[in-house]
Amino acid sequence: MNQFAKDVLDGLSATPKRLSSKYFYDEIGDKLFQRIMSLDDYYLTRSEYEILSNSKSQLLKIFGAQKTPFNLIEFGAGDGYKTKVLLKHFLAQNADFKYIPIDISGNVLDILETALKKELPDLKVKGIQNEYFKALDQLDKSNERNVVLFLGSNIGNFTGDQATTFLQGLYDSLKQGDILLIGFDLKKDPNVILKAYNDREGVTRDFNLNLLNRINNELGGNFNIDKFKHHPIYNPLTGTTTSFLVSTEEQTVEIMDKTFYFDAWEAVHMEISQKYDLKAIVNLAKEAGFKVLNNFYDEKKYFVDAVWQK
Ligand code: AVJ
Repeated sequence: MNQFAKDVLDGLSATPKRLSSKYFYDEIGDKLFQRIMSLDDYYLTRSEYEILSNSKSQLLKIFGAQKTPFNLIEFGAGDGYKTKVLLKHFLAQNADFKYIPIDISGNVLDILETALKKELPDLKVKGIQNEYFKALDQLDKSNERNVVLFLGSNIGNFTGDQATTFLQGLYDSLKQGDILLIGFDLKKDPNVILKAYNDREGVTRDFNLNLLNRINNELGGNFNIDKFKHHPIYNPLTGTTTSFLVSTEEQTVEIMDKTFYFDAWEAVHMEISQKYDLKAIVNLAKEAGFKVLNNFYDEKKYFVDAVWQK
């Protein structure tokens, strides 16, 4: 049995029931997430785009001080929409760097590399298909400074403990002087946050429900997705947005010869998207051992890209 099947059966056998948002991203999920990123209600991508556009020259000064060569490594690059702002600027400034996108999906990397070779023929690009830390270990142990991009508030899908463990692991795989540019979504008006996860066009709903479709297609499940309701909540005390799918009636679902019983209005935990304040971010840097070099904000202070150094 593959990991996906194991995690689904485990999660639906647990109390409360849960599915993991890391499985949102099949081919349809990738497309739905791309649509989410362009929604009016989903402010995160726009905010970070603004930050990168306004900070690109300052960022180059930090990354490639005295024209020293560096590796620009990106965790979970996706379609590279935001990163291209940096890549174009760095190329125009004749910076000496290589772009190394890392993704677990070879398909995503192929599409990105092909697009970049066409759009930015002068760019040196070499994707690595692997898990993040394994890919870092795979990098030749050159003297070049590594600059790791972890954008988009992807860290927000981790619980606090998971985020700390992840960043400690990243710290350990880096060498002295290496840099991390990491995006955090900030605490703000709870209504603004909630709308980003309950958009008017229902794309986020479909994004969550797509995981049930994926289970149907890949594991032979028989979810009736019309009998589940997308329901996100935001807790302004903890800064955690939690997304649930709620069973609208009593029902059973069969997956791989197992039967799962759902009570009427029983919830399945799908995803957390953590929102931070600066204190929590500084604390995270400290716990992982990083030195904070700089924080770049958008005009509304919706989002921050933090620059940390080992
Ligand atoms: C890709 C993890 C940053 O949590 O905001 C978007 C994923 N989930 N809408 C986020 C997501 C619902 C997104 N991240």
